[in-house]
Amino acid sequence: MRISIIGSGYVGLVSGAGLSEVGHHVVCMDINQERIDNLRNGIVPIFEPGLEDMLQENSRQGRLEFTSSMADALDDVQVLIIAVGTPPDEDGSADLSHVLAVARSVGELIEKPLVVVVKSTVPVGTCEKVSEGISRELKRRGADIDFTVASNPEFLKEGAAISDFMKPDRIIVGVDNEEAEALLRELYAPFNRNHEKLLCMDVRSSELTKYAANTMLATKISLMNELSNVAERVGADIEHVRNGIGSDPRIGYSFIYPGAGYGGSCFPKDVRALERTAGQYGYQAELLRAVEAVNNRQKHKPFELLERHFNGQLHGRQVAIWGLSFKPNTDDMREAPSLVLIQALIEAGASVRAHDPEASQEAAAVLEGQQGFDIFEDPYEAAEGADALVLMTEWKLYWAPDFDLLYKSMKHAVIVDGRNIWSPQIVRRRGISYYAIGRP
Ligand SMILES: NC(=O)c1ccc[n+]([C@@H]2O[C@H](COP(=O)([O-])OP(=O)(O)OC[C@H]3O[C@@H](n4cnc5c(N)ncnc54)[C@H](O)[C@@H]3O)[C@@H](O)[C@H]2O)c1
Repeated sequence: MRISIIGSGYVGLVSGAGLSEVGHHVVCMDINQERIDNLRNGIVPIFEPGLEDMLQENSRQGRLEFTSSMADALDDVQVLIIAVGTPPDEDGSADLSHVLAVARSVGELIEKPLVVVVKSTVPVGTCEKVSEGISRELKRRGADIDFTVASNPEFLKEGAAISDFMKPDRIIVGVDNEEAEALLRELYAPFNRNHEKLLCMDVRSSELTKYAANTMLATKISLMNELSNVAERVGADIEHVRNGIGSDPRIGYSFIYPGAGYGGSCFPKDVRALERTAGQYGYQAELLRAVEAVNNRQKHKPFELLERHFNGQLHGRQVAIWGLSFKPNTDDMREAPSLVLIQALIEAGASVRAHDPEASQEAAAVLEGQQGFDIFEDPYEAAEGADALVLMTEWKLYWAPDFDLLYKSMKHAVIVDGRNIWSPQIVRRRGISYYAIGRP
């Protein structure tokens, strides 16, 4: 099958790699010319385990191409997948300008019938807007070409995106046209071998399913963070509580880790966008507001712990941070909790010595020109001479550090574990002051 993917970011590239891997012919398109030039030379703009090899191999075999031309992307294509960004607008609702720009171009340029698949995360009703956008341009041209717009939200997790795409738990397709449904069943047949994973539904339910999944997961995290704040006040250990409730199969262990809040390009913006959508329909989604408010407060937790330890005297202190990306195994810095901590420390007159195994470049770009922020290649070098060390992202290389070395090389042996990965006993045995989230 001949497929084009518009938008070559995390979702577009992983989808392009996965669909070409199973034999489809895929063109990945992006308006960012530099990105396309790099991809043609085998340079992948993001860090995602396994992605580079897969993109290079499929390009070498001629099943995967890159272009910055929409006309090329629309040439002889059966399915066009929209995977452009839907960042938050000023009021928190999803900015659909990129998606609608693609719809316009499709209307301007298509010559043959086409199925347009919206994979970007978009508010309910967007597929209808895409359809209207295409129709408007076709009408302007006086052209009568058949097309269908379907919804097909993406559920991959950064850091495990390739396996999520190749072995999905489910494939959601929202479509109201039998022919288009048959084509999409064919597209995904290679991923649907083991058991039926394709769930077909109406377009609006499919659009809402993506927000429902992300807000459900974000709610679990915020509830756990809320409980960790209660645990801290009543003298309980949230880690015991976590084990105590995770063992209940109705609750389960996943997504109940307390910590310094969730970040990333999806949860924060999707919780906000769904809340705004509900508002547009006259409904106040109280729980969604609370999920966001709890998360925003939680991102300040590591700073508060430092402030408490140093009695508010953070001016002139040097604070080491381990982990900058919003979670391990990605270089994505979007809405990373580390950024909130860095900002608060710098405003308080402290300086930051940071380390991250993959996100340093991305962090340097985001924080370009920021005085008092330095990145080190070695985690122990970042901690050397520091007044405190804060763990913000639980990359595997931080799980068993040399606490004796930290104790000796830091100016003050103070550790804030923003992800509860270390044992309080093991750390404190070294004479280190140790703080975690919701633990005594
Ligand atoms: N990143 C994730 O983990 C994830 C998971 C599931 C769903 N999503 C959703 O998928 C969508 C894409 O997310 P992402 O993280 O891949 O974004 P991204 O920012 O990494 O990539 C988007 C790409 O689209 C390109 N683009 C923008 N406008 C364009 C246009 N008019 N024509 C062609 N290219 C254009 C940009 O240059 C960029 O390369 C979003 O709606 C997001 O919410 C993301």
